[in-house]
Amino acid sequence: MSLKQKTNDLLKRKAIAEAGGGQEANLKQQAKGKLTARERILALLDDGSFQEYDLFVQHDARDFNMESKVLAGDGVITGTGTIYGQPICIYAQDFTVEGGSLGFAHARKITKIMDHSLKMRMPLIGINDSGGARIQEGVNSLAGYGEIFFRNTLSSGVIPQISVILGPCAGGAVYSPALTDFVFVVENISKMFITGPEVIKTVLGEEISMEELGGAKVHAEISGNAHFYAKSELECFEQIKKLLTFIPWNNGQKARSFPPKEPRLEFKIEDIVPSDPRQPYDVRDVIRALVDDSDFFEVAELFAPNIVIGFGRINGGTVGFVANQPLVLAGVLDCDSSDKAGRFIRYCDAFNIPIVTLEDMPGYLPGIDQEHMGVIRHGAKVLYAYSEATVPKITVILRKAYGGGYIAMNSRHLRADFVFAWPTAEIAVMGPEGAANIIFRKEIQSAENPEEMRKLKIKEYKEKFANPYVAASKGYIDAVIEPERTRSILLHAIEVSTNKTDGRPRKKHGIPPF
Ligand code: HXC
Repeated sequence: MSLKQKTNDLLKRKAIAEAGGGQEANLKQQAKGKLTARERILALLDDGSFQEYDLFVQHDARDFNMESKVLAGDGVITGTGTIYGQPICIYAQDFTVEGGSLGFAHARKITKIMDHSLKMRMPLIGINDSGGARIQEGVNSLAGYGEIFFRNTLSSGVIPQISVILGPCAGGAVYSPALTDFVFVVENISKMFITGPEVIKTVLGEEISMEELGGAKVHAEISGNAHFYAKSELECFEQIKKLLTFIPWNNGQKARSFPPKEPRLEFKIEDIVPSDPRQPYDVRDVIRALVDDSDFFEVAELFAPNIVIGFGRINGGTVGFVANQPLVLAGVLDCDSSDKAGRFIRYCDAFNIPIVTLEDMPGYLPGIDQEHMGVIRHGAKVLYAYSEATVPKITVILRKAYGGGYIAMNSRHLRADFVFAWPTAEIAVMGPEGAANIIFRKEIQSAENPEEMRKLKIKEYKEKFANPYVAASKGYIDAVIEPERTRSILLHAIEVSTNKTDGRPRKKHGIPPF
C-alpha cells in the first residue's frame, strides 16, 4: 500500500473507533439528554486542541463471550488539550460502549493519562458516565479502580483534580470523584450511589428512585459530595472553565493574575452589614463589595449554606474566601459547615491561594443532634486546617466573634497573619445575654426587679466586653478599621504577604480529625 492508501486506512479505522458504540447507542444517549463522551471533550476544550491517545486499545477479556466483542477505545476516551490556552489532561467514559463499564484496559488508559498529568504537573479532568466495574472482567476491573484511587491520592494537593459526573457513577466508582478536589453535577443527568435502587430493594425491601437516592441535587445539597451544580452540561463546562481561571496549574505555581478591577458600585460595604448584631445580611454581598468586578465564584453554594466559601480576586490575584453566613443559622459552625470550610482551607493552602476569613458568628451549634453527629470531631477540622495552613491568612471580624468561633475562624492564636476588626465587632466568650445570666445570676435573682437587673447587667457586660477594643488592647487584633477601608486594607495585607515564609515541624503527615 502507498502512504496515501495507508493513511486512508488509518482514517477509516479512526472513524470506526470514534463512532463509539455506534449510531443506535449514540441516539439512546441523546434521548437521555446527554452529550456523547467525544462531544463533551470537544465542548470543554479550546477548539482544535484535543489530542487523543490509545484510541485503538482493546480489552483482552475472554469470559462471558467477551472475546467476540470489539469495544471502541474500550469505553473511555483519553487525551490532552488546552483550556484558555493552558494544557490539561482529560478522560471521558463513553456510556455508549458497554455502558462505559470499567475493565482492565479501560482503567489502564485512565491511569496512563493520570500518570501523565502528575508527571507534567497539569490539571486532570475526569468525566464519569459508567455502569461501574465491568462485571464480565471480575477482579481485574476492581484492580483497575484500586489503581485509579491510588493515583488520585498521590496527585492530591499536587495537581488540581476535577470530576464531572455526567451519567451513572455507581458502586466503588464513586470513590475516585470523592478523592478529587472538585465534583461537578448536572440536573437530571448525574447519579452517584454506592448501592443502586435494585440492591436496596433486595436487601432492605425499600423502593427508591435513582434521583432520590443520589441525583445531582442530593449531592449538591445534602451529602456535600458535589461542589458545583448546573442545569445543563454546557453550563457545567462553563463552570469548570471559570474555576480554572481561579486556580494554579499545580502546587508549585500561583494562580494566574488578571488586570485589576474595582468592585461594582452597587455593592457598598457600609450599607450591607447592619450594626445590630441580631439583624441578618448576605455575607456574599460583603465579598462582592471586596473583590475585583464584584465577581465572586462560590464553591458548594447549596451545601451547608451557613458558611460561604469560594474564590474572588483582589487587585488581580486569586483569594479564597471563608465567611460565616448570618442569613442561615446565624452563621454558626456545625458538622457540615466545618467539613466544608476545613476542606476548602486545605485546598487553598495546598495551592498557594491566600485566605481571607470574614467572621460574624455566635459559635458552634449547640444541641444533642450536633453532639451525636460529632460536632467535636468535625469542628476540630477547622482548627486543624487553619493551624496547618501557611499561605497568607487574613481575618476581618465584622460583628460577632464569640467563644470557640472566635478561635476557630482564623484567630491570631491559630497563626493568622493579620486580624482586623470593624468597630461593630464583639469579641467575647459568649453573647451578652448568656454571659450576664451566668456571671450575674445571684444579683439578678436577688434583685427586687430581676428583669430590670438582667437588662442592666447585659448592658454592663456589652459595654465592657462586646466590642473590639479589649482584644485590640491585648494585640489579638492588629487594627480596628473603618468598614469602607476593608478592601484597601486587604489589598495591602496581601501585598505585604507576597513573600511569606512560614513552616511547620517536619513530619510524615499529621493526623487530622477526619
Ligand atoms: C458490564 C454493563 C455494566 C457493567 C452496564 N452495562 N453496566 N456491562 N458491566 N457494570 C452494559 C449493559 O449490559 C448494557 O449493555 C449497556 O451497558 C447499557 O446499560 P443499560 O443497563 O441498558 O443502561 P441503563 O438502562 O441506562 O442503565 C444504566 C445503569 C445499569 C443504571 C448504570 O446499567 C446498571 O445498573 N448497571 C450496573 C450498575 C452497578 O451495579 N455497577 C456496580 C458494579 S460493582 P447492552 O449490550 O445491553 O447495550 C462496582 C464495584 C467497584 O462498580 C468497586 C471498586 C472499589
